[in-house]
Amino acid sequence: MTYIEPVPASAGPQPELSLIICTLNEGAAIRSVIEEVSDTLKHISHEIIVVDDNSADNTAAEVLELAKTRPNVRLHVRVNERGLSSAAIKGWDIAYGRFLGVMDGDGQHDPDAIRQLAEMILKGDKDLVCASRYIGQTETGLSFFRDLGSRAATWATGLVLKVPLSDPMSGCFMMTRDYYMSARPKLTGIGFKILLDVAASSPVKPRFGEVKAALRQRQGGQSKLDLRVVLDLGALLIEKATGGVMNARFVLFAGVGVTGVFVYAAVLIICHKLLYGATQQPMYRFQYRYDDIVSYSLAIWLSMTWNFFVNNLITFRDKRLKGVALITGLIGFYFACSIGAVISLALSLFMKDHLHIHYLVAGITAALLSSVWNYWASTLLSWRNKKPAPGA
Ligand code: GDD
Ligand code: MN
Repeated sequence: MTYIEPVPASAGPQPELSLIICTLNEGAAIRSVIEEVSDTLKHISHEIIVVDDNSADNTAAEVLELAKTRPNVRLHVRVNERGLSSAAIKGWDIAYGRFLGVMDGDGQHDPDAIRQLAEMILKGDKDLVCASRYIGQTETGLSFFRDLGSRAATWATGLVLKVPLSDPMSGCFMMTRDYYMSARPKLTGIGFKILLDVAASSPVKPRFGEVKAALRQRQGGQSKLDLRVVLDLGALLIEKATGGVMNARFVLFAGVGVTGVFVYAAVLIICHKLLYGATQQPMYRFQYRYDDIVSYSLAIWLSMTWNFFVNNLITFRDKRLKGVALITGLIGFYFACSIGAVISLALSLFMKDHLHIHYLVAGITAALLSSVWNYWASTLLSWRNKKPAPGA
């Protein structure tokens, strides 16, 4: 992600501020959101760049319609990518402004807070300014559990950040171009937490400011934040805490792998109970017991299939496979993992029969050893060059 496209020449004079709005199906709100914020910022030269991930609704059409009368409004549609953070990065990469910001496209961010942020960053004595829900007693606008979750995440992120941000989960902030460029080479771009990504990726300790702001109700549409966003955050934190040694996607993949081990162990135990009870005499095929071969194979196959589907939902969410691509992806995944599966089966049988290790310990050890291979194989084969469906 270090390659940055050259920015085409701007039509007018360079704006002071470029404000990015990322959208996925925000047709109901986007027009009034842009009008409201642009009017609030009318004393500041600014452009607004909407980065839309090929929404299935009329989001892009609404923005183009508005751009007819407002030349400071730009639209960038991404067809093959997904994700709030990577969309914001795209917007900043193509922005003309001296200062760069981001806000939501659903009307939840208060334009007045955005005006305060803009005025603060334009003064020139700050590198980063953020809207925060947690200064003083501001009503956060979140339900009890989301509020609790958000505060817990804030605490966890405090451990990896150089800046004492009171709301590192904020989706509304502005920064200087220099500060952005200092973070740019290391940005992960995964998930929703773009402020955290920026602040944790920059080696610079920024001069920062905060503005108090509660979230307003979203105008139509639906929130895209869910459990997977929280998992992404955990993975991002681990990547930043380990200085990039543990890549965020690998952390997610490994987490899914752990659930796969449980599936694997459960299948093995069930097979062991059923098959060993049914056959009094051990049945041999080659030199190994038939029931061992069946139970290890079944456990490998079922846990592999489990891992494929859960990885598709979580680890490779931004490249999620659907329909025919899901079937071909699964076949590709089986193909890619087949070598790992054979290694796992052979190792299990060997450890159990020749080293006399307990069947479960033998199976799990073998599965773990072959999983490193599977990570590379699946990254290379199944989710490579994947194009998401529009608006899905
Ligand atoms: N381009 C693009 N691609 N935009 C997206 C995507 C995506 O995959 N997913 C979400 N968005 C856009 C939405 O259309 C919206 O404009 C904005 O990103 C925020 O998404 P919401 O779905 O409204 O998120 P939220 O309100 O739950 O979360 C917001 O508040 C959180 C604080 O609790 C965001 O600002 C988060 O960043 C913030 O942490
Ligand atoms: Mn929202």
